[in-house]
Amino acid sequence: MKTQLIPKRISLANIPTPIQKISFEGKSFFIKRDDFTGMETSGNKIRKLEYLLFQPRKEKADVIFTCGGEQSNHARATAFAAASLGMKSKLFLWGKNSSNADGNLFLDKVLGCELRFLSKNEFGNATIIMAEEKLSLEKKGKKVFLIPEGGSSPLGIWGYIHAIEEMQKQNIFRRCNAILTASGSGGTSAGLLVGSLLFNQNLKILAVNVLYPKDEIRNKIITLAEQAIKDYRLPIKLDEKRLEILDGYSQEGYKHISNDKLLLIKKFARHTGIVLDPAYTGKAFKAYYDNFLSVRTPKTLFIHTGGLYGVFSKRKKYLLSFEEKI
Ligand SMILES: Cc1ncc(COP(=O)(O)O)c(C=O)c1O
Repeated sequence: MKTQLIPKRISLANIPTPIQKISFEGKSFFIKRDDFTGMETSGNKIRKLEYLLFQPRKEKADVIFTCGGEQSNHARATAFAAASLGMKSKLFLWGKNSSNADGNLFLDKVLGCELRFLSKNEFGNATIIMAEEKLSLEKKGKKVFLIPEGGSSPLGIWGYIHAIEEMQKQNIFRRCNAILTASGSGGTSAGLLVGSLLFNQNLKILAVNVLYPKDEIRNKIITLAEQAIKDYRLPIKLDEKRLEILDGYSQEGYKHISNDKLLLIKKFARHTGIVLDPAYTGKAFKAYYDNFLSVRTPKTLFIHTGGLYGVFSKRKKYLLSFEEKI
């Protein structure tokens, strides 16, 4: 029998992250605080980077390439993690440069990493564009490593395979039989799906698609999970029924946030002290609220995947929405 392979990781994240019992509107439920993973509050991204940066560090890479939106948490997290390991980074961002940069883009500039801005069409070919630049730098003798969008590769998803083992040790699966999280590039959900099978936990993985349409994200998650099972010879068979996409929570678009969600985000912050971001966790929490907070003690665990800096790029909208009176 072929033995399974487990990739090596470096330690970057403050883990295990706590699981908190939260009360909101008379209901109690559990939140896994992956917004506390550290490394300049890098949320879910840092778990993936523990695996993705192992080889570049070992081989003493000169520069790391990655891509994302201009407010990409992943791109910023990669740049900071690379810097902490003594490596440079270049970010390929969908959007425009701005002298008034806020949020993640502001931090990219504070760090001084190289930036290349791409139009939406160009971003569709970001992998090819990065590969071309990689080749030309390699011709000059530089060692370049390329990390895909969101850090979502069969290697990157180990961050959340490992997170399942962590949650198992925290005994949360005695109380919860499902996990809900925002899904952008799909790696977090894919890792949770594979991890639940590998650690023999009968869990439903609920993915709230914020960037890609329902069928596309489902396909991305399943493909990533299948590829990881194959690449690492995992002794499991994918059970697609365990994955459910909660669709319809990003109709305003990835870069925007609707007023009803902002009201919920502000109310939640005021009553719990927890801030949700406009691109990911705010949308995922609206799905959680609509689908699970109708029961007194939901058995679905909400993972707060971070994204704090995205709030600042939407400061006007956050300030314009209503103020609840004491
Ligand atoms: C804050 C936050 N939450 C959730 C996600 C979604 O994770 P994934 O890309 O692994 O689906 C991302 C990144 O895309 C993110 O930055």
